[in-house]
Amino acid sequence: MKKTSIFQMRGCLVLVLVATLNSVVASSDYNYSRVLELSLLFYEAQRSGQLPPDNRISWRGDSALGDRGQNGEDLTGGYYDAGDFVKFGFTMASTTTLLAWGYFSYRDAYESAGQAKYALDAIKWAADYFIKCHVSPNELYGQVGDFNLDHAFWGRPEDLNMSRPAYKIDAQHPGSDLAGETAAALAAVSLVFRDVNPGYSSKCLDHAKQLYRFASQFRGLYHEAIKGAAQYYESTDYGDELTWAASWLYRATDDPQYLDEAEHHYMKFRLKERPNEFFYNKKVAGVQILLAQLTRQPEYMEAAQAFCDFTVNYQKKTPKGLVYIDKFGTLCHAANVAFVCLQAADAGISPSRYREFARRQIDYMLGDSGRSFVVGFGYNYPRQPHHAASSCPTRPAPCGWDAFGWPRDNPQLLQGALVSGPDENDHYMDNREEYVYNEVTLDYNAGFQSAVAGLRHLQLEVFENNRA
Ligand SMILES: *[C@@H]1O[C@H](CO)[C@@H](O)[C@H](O)[C@H]1NC(C)=O
Ligand SMILES: *[C@@H]1O[C@H](CO)[C@@H](O)[C@H](O)[C@H]1NC(C)=O
Repeated sequence: MKKTSIFQMRGCLVLVLVATLNSVVASSDYNYSRVLELSLLFYEAQRSGQLPPDNRISWRGDSALGDRGQNGEDLTGGYYDAGDFVKFGFTMASTTTLLAWGYFSYRDAYESAGQAKYALDAIKWAADYFIKCHVSPNELYGQVGDFNLDHAFWGRPEDLNMSRPAYKIDAQHPGSDLAGETAAALAAVSLVFRDVNPGYSSKCLDHAKQLYRFASQFRGLYHEAIKGAAQYYESTDYGDELTWAASWLYRATDDPQYLDEAEHHYMKFRLKERPNEFFYNKKVAGVQILLAQLTRQPEYMEAAQAFCDFTVNYQKKTPKGLVYIDKFGTLCHAANVAFVCLQAADAGISPSRYREFARRQIDYMLGDSGRSFVVGFGYNYPRQPHHAASSCPTRPAPCGWDAFGWPRDNPQLLQGALVSGPDENDHYMDNREEYVYNEVTLDYNAGFQSAVAGLRHLQLEVFENNRA
């Protein structure tokens, strides 16, 4: 039984918890439910294709309705990658895997925030697109839009009129990383929909199985097939995605064959070594933690612990305590490690330390550093995210490159977007042209949203335990 006293203070519920595992998490000053709501609005603002009648983003409409494959296949839908308008399968898939993982781990957080419907919609929006892109068993579109053509344009997605070529991988031009990550995503999505939409869940699982076979039988790096991707989202290895996909398929099916394959890949690709980070190009920490959860084997439990202990104790930090891994996506990196270490904590590995660490990282982003880094949330949030659509005035006013350089707040509020973040000295510039600080991407919000859901889940657990 946990000892708690609850009292009102400045209109907020403040919990004072004595000697409880989750005390630090429970006492956060920030409304995690609100952050979940906003982050889902960010994903909604990134939608491509025909928008449904319940679209909540007033400044967005239908766009890129002509997106087609090389044989005329319908490739409309999905999400724009960032402030630009390429649809990029590799990071869209890793985003989806993380959102799905966070959703089925912490569904209570979404439900109590009234966000379950929106979270399911956000995940399905991506999965529907992956299914369209998977045009035959060994053929997967991985990119629509050319970065060079796209980057010559600044404006609204509704006004796009350049040609948008589509690029794919197939048996002759394989991409085990892209196919593997998409398989992982669809396996994780199948878990999300298992109860609420069993037909859809099994459809996702069938595609996941085929994609994993494709990834496994035809080995290669996707950026050798989809050359334009290398400059932006290079993948340097595919062993992590193969292991990740097999692990997710094992989780979704309980078929021991997938676990055998995952463990085989893990050995073969030497995934035992402690990584430094967890992001789209390096999933090893996620693999270790997922395998720890699935098998409870000391080998994986120890690897997960080594990663999180290193991150908590020795990873470089800014003076205000933010994990600092890279100048691109600084906050994304910190949120990703917060999320996977929350998952490690759920597996029983140093739970109080990792949860406290995760809470500190996320709360830094929400205001502890002296400002918010989430558009539309909290104190002094970013006003000039590097994001073309939200930099445009309201239609029918025209929009072009002058909107890029305008020294004014983005006219449209890109609610919920987590920006790239500060430098190693906690310094940040809210200037649209400074994309190192102000870029926003699908990928930046994913581990963040899932970590916020995890923290909210822990708060709800404290409430439950106190009621019991
Ligand atoms: C937190 O945000 C949610 C969603 O916007 C809202 O319904 C709720 O009232 C907020 N809670 C507090 C304590 O402000
Ligand atoms: C695209 O739009 C621009 C600006 O409205 C126009 O000048 C150009 O001709 C259009 N290009 C095509 C291919 O329609």
